[in-house]
Amino acid sequence: MCCPGRTPATSRTLRAACAVGAKSTTSPSRNSATFLTEEPRPIVRFPPPPIAWPVQRVLGACPEAARLDAPLGRVLLERRSIRRLSAPSVREVLALVGMVTMNRLVKAGDPFARSRRVSPSAGALHPVSIVVLRGGRARATALRVDPVGAHVQLLREREPGGAARLLTRLPQYLPQARGTMLVLLADRQLTAAAYRSPDSLLWRDAGALLATLQITAAGLGLGTCLLGLLGHEVARSLFPSGNRIVAVGACVVGRPTPPA
Ligand SMILES: Cc1cc2nc3c(=O)[nH]c(=O)nc-3n(C[C@H](O)[C@H](O)[C@H](O)COP(=O)(O)O)c2cc1C
Repeated sequence: MCCPGRTPATSRTLRAACAVGAKSTTSPSRNSATFLTEEPRPIVRFPPPPIAWPVQRVLGACPEAARLDAPLGRVLLERRSIRRLSAPSVREVLALVGMVTMNRLVKAGDPFARSRRVSPSAGALHPVSIVVLRGGRARATALRVDPVGAHVQLLREREPGGAARLLTRLPQYLPQARGTMLVLLADRQLTAAAYRSPDSLLWRDAGALLATLQITAAGLGLGTCLLGLLGHEVARSLFPSGNRIVAVGACVVGRPTPPA
């Protein structure tokens, strides 16, 4: 099936995208200018200072997720993208995000503070963070779970309005989703301090994290749908200057609702 995703597009743009895809299979070199093909190579540099997240207030400890008791085989076979969603509680969302982004172990004495989490990450660097967008399109708030202390942080948009702008785009993608939007932001400088040609690692880290998030959510009885949009609005509103932080994906999480 060509272009199976549901990223919004007119039939004309869909046809054009499919034509490009068809061409690239017969002529791979033509595509190499736009496709990331450089092999990352480890290098030894000093890590950058930790990201200065714009924390307005610490709201408290991250709630714990329910036990994941469902058999993995069943969760994998039943996992689906769910597009009809009702609003989850903030507790359910934070517990899910905490579950997939919390440090489980930090390598002692390592200047990069390499860590183990439930998701894999190139070099155990975990450069991708999840920002939770709550509220509506009129007024949105951004939350983050600190992976070290497991605290929930209320973030301040240095350039207000980005989170709300991104939320206005959701109905275009998923008209029946009343869920909570999550945005993935990557620390390009961190991975660039450990690898030459780091960008493909960031994309793969984001993919691994999204897959882990979706499977974990399914195991917890929540529904999710990944989105084609990236979330630049939120990267820019939280970090208006510099190019250290890049938006690498978004998804919606909620309670699955049966068709009316
Ligand atoms: C990177 C990525 C982006 C996606 N973007 C969208 C999207 O914008 N809208 C949507 O409805 N589904 C989106 N999806 C979900 C796919 O359409 C879905 O995974 C596919 O149809 C297979 O269905 P399943 O996940 O239920 O197995 C996306 C999936 C991925 C991996």
